[in-house]
Amino acid sequence: MRPQAPPKSKSSNEVDPQDEALLKEAAKAAETAYAPYSKFSVGAAVRTRSGKTYIGSNLENAAYGVGMCAEVAALTAANSSRDFDVVAIAVLGHPTGDPALGHDIVTPCGRCRQMIYEASQVSGDDVRVICANGDRSKVKAWAISELLPDGFGPHNLGIDVKRFRKRPE
Ligand code: THU
Repeated sequence: MRPQAPPKSKSSNEVDPQDEALLKEAAKAAETAYAPYSKFSVGAAVRTRSGKTYIGSNLENAAYGVGMCAEVAALTAANSSRDFDVVAIAVLGHPTGDPALGHDIVTPCGRCRQMIYEASQVSGDDVRVICANGDRSKVKAWAISELLPDGFGPHNLGIDVKRFRKRPE
């Protein structure tokens, strides 16, 4: 794994400008959430080594269990653009239409941590996960290896996934 900057936990007025920029993209993405059941909008923004960003939001379903998380949507967007070389992902969420009511920092659910871990195995980077509450007044960041320590991955199956990084056109 390539080394990453140490994770930071900071108040909003000292947030790394790159982290803040990615969180802003996540906030824009949250506005596109389709969440009529939970009425909780989540936005995610992925940054790849090329410097590009890809966004996603949660997409719910009347069959509740088949809904999709924002992080998966953003990771899928990066891969679909032949740019699965992820270095960071920002996540935030709040009750639909009211960022100020999203009091708690939103961290990726267990399934999303597994998906981000897979992306980290492809990119060879310990993906930085930047999380915030609805109005981004609270921000916290980790490396994916901290959110999912000793994860199950392609190495368990003896598979080298680095060739799936691809390059954007
Ligand atoms: N949600 C996400 O999009 N990402 C997460 O990591 C946590 C939860 C969504 C799923 C559902 O649409 C809504 O938030 C409430 O659980």
